[in-house]
Amino acid sequence: MKRIFRLFGVALAASAIISCTPGGANGKSSSSSSKKSAAEKAYVAPGEYDDYYGFLSGGFSGQVYAYGFPSARLLKILPVFSQDPQSGYGYSEETKPMLETSYGFIPWDDLHHPDISQTNGELDGRWIFANANNTPRIARISLTDFETQEIIEIPNSAGNHNSAFVTENTEYVVAGTRFGVPIPQRDMPIKDYKGNFEATVSFISVDQDEGDMDLAFQIRLPGFNYDLAHPGRDKSHGWMFFTTYNTEEAHTLLEVNSAERDKDFITAINWKKAEEYIKEGKGEMVKAKYAHNKYDAKKHTATSTMKDEVLMLDPTELPGIVYFIPSAKSPHGVDVDPTGEYIVSNGKLSANVVVHSFSKIQEAIEKENFVDEAYGIPILDFDETLAGIVEQPGIGPLHTEFDERGNAYTTFFISSEIVKWKVETQEVLDRHDVYYSPGHLSIPGGNSRKPDGKYLLSMNKITKDRYLPVGPEMNQPGQLFDISGDKMEMILDFPMIGEPHYASMIHADKIKDKTRKIYRLSSENDHERVVKSSKDVRIERDGKNVHVYMGMIRSHFNPDNIEGIKMGDTVYFHITNMEQDFDIPHGFAVMGANNSELLIVPGQTKTLVWEPQDVGIYPFYCTDFCSALHQEMQGYIRVSPEDSDIELSWSLDDDVHTN
Ligand code: CUA
Repeated sequence: MKRIFRLFGVALAASAIISCTPGGANGKSSSSSSKKSAAEKAYVAPGEYDDYYGFLSGGFSGQVYAYGFPSARLLKILPVFSQDPQSGYGYSEETKPMLETSYGFIPWDDLHHPDISQTNGELDGRWIFANANNTPRIARISLTDFETQEIIEIPNSAGNHNSAFVTENTEYVVAGTRFGVPIPQRDMPIKDYKGNFEATVSFISVDQDEGDMDLAFQIRLPGFNYDLAHPGRDKSHGWMFFTTYNTEEAHTLLEVNSAERDKDFITAINWKKAEEYIKEGKGEMVKAKYAHNKYDAKKHTATSTMKDEVLMLDPTELPGIVYFIPSAKSPHGVDVDPTGEYIVSNGKLSANVVVHSFSKIQEAIEKENFVDEAYGIPILDFDETLAGIVEQPGIGPLHTEFDERGNAYTTFFISSEIVKWKVETQEVLDRHDVYYSPGHLSIPGGNSRKPDGKYLLSMNKITKDRYLPVGPEMNQPGQLFDISGDKMEMILDFPMIGEPHYASMIHADKIKDKTRKIYRLSSENDHERVVKSSKDVRIERDGKNVHVYMGMIRSHFNPDNIEGIKMGDTVYFHITNMEQDFDIPHGFAVMGANNSELLIVPGQTKTLVWEPQDVGIYPFYCTDFCSALHQEMQGYIRVSPEDSDIELSWSLDDDVHTN
């Protein structure tokens, strides 16, 4: 009897699951054969490579995660805005300057949207750009070295959410203000927000050879909230579109007070027109303090420079660069299809997806058919710019991406599903449940002229019962779909790290053969304190600072015994990994160090600072299992009292040196 009840219970639970997923699973039964085919589709055999790289943002972890797809194997953690104890990023002397800002050293941020560089509207695999949301910054990560090479702070901004999106030749990376704030910052009552707080959007230019970023110009805007952005492409190249909410300019209980109006805006910016004005000498240099941090991959060292002004454009004085397009209320994503004609606005409270036409926007602008203005900026007519509406596809649309077959895919947060629809006709073609509440989705090249519509990754916000429970907080689910057929098919469900907001996916062929294997000691290491051979090994005292020039090679440190360090000294370990073989890093850790280990790749030099806290003998060792005798890769440092007369000396085996 008990057994029968239990079986009945299972059947009930199963029917409950099925009944709460209307329209799900494509009407297919979840028979073992379909499960097997899904497994085969996501399976990459041992020793074989994935077809795609996926770079997932870590959200509040401040990092980017490189995955292989379709297997969802985690390939590497790329530290960007947060210190990383695994590599020593943000702990080593060489990388600390990367995290400098006008507010000082900030070892954390909230990274939302990685975007890969493009050439002619196609992903080119040179760099990924990513945004820091909290203390506004943009980073550039090299896809040769897989290291963060540059971070630029964005002044006159607060809540840098609508970045880091690149234009179709990587002319610019765009950034913008989520929060209206006083610009410049000043002490004033919060209740005086309306009409007094302001916002900016920023255009960061990118050098096409080296990738160096520069804050080219900012555009001053009314103090609305600017949420997300996407560049025009092909026919709409030269324009940038931003979703704009809280046009009510509420400063409290926004969940109610910013949803009063029937429509909010898409802010359309003609940046080519802005460039023309700049050429004519228009715009004004304004004071602004912001850090610009660059990593020199040859010197293996970053420097931080503080900048003090920025070129500001005022659209009320420079007509033709900014227009407001009334759109869905409280919009989130704004997405441009591969042809550049359709601009999709996702009203997160609505059941409809609004599609605007770029050609119609241009006609309305030419005719100067404006229905109103806001703070001197013309407002276009909603109906005149409309291409169509996807009627009732789901509830709570957030983001849309595209394939190369004329289809769009939109995530619906509230109804927990992805809906596929035809861009030109706005006709719904397919829908599939996700578990649960998707935010962004990603298709390789889905934000470019040339999407590669094989896979779709849904990045969901709520996990609940999907995986084995691990306490109150669950990692968020990523769900991979095969979208090559008429119907979307879910082929993999895996927990992600942090909070992946967006992922940028690219075919592996565009990256894998040009990745770095080693730094050649002869020609690719100009570090000031490199050890290229054993004759460079030495220790130098400069007052209380002691500089140790150390080499490491399987399976020893040179030197491995150090004496003559005294209390009150600050010891700088400048360590070079002298290996010249691919994938032979060594690590370095010393007892009592208050920072992290260093992981040093072949041919690279890094520096760890150590301030001994007491006299004694301190071991150091290699943290990375580098050889059969890895456990023998170790050494000792003797720390003596401040007034001792022990001479500075260093040795390896019988080879003893003093100054
Ligand atoms: Cu070197 Cu372990």
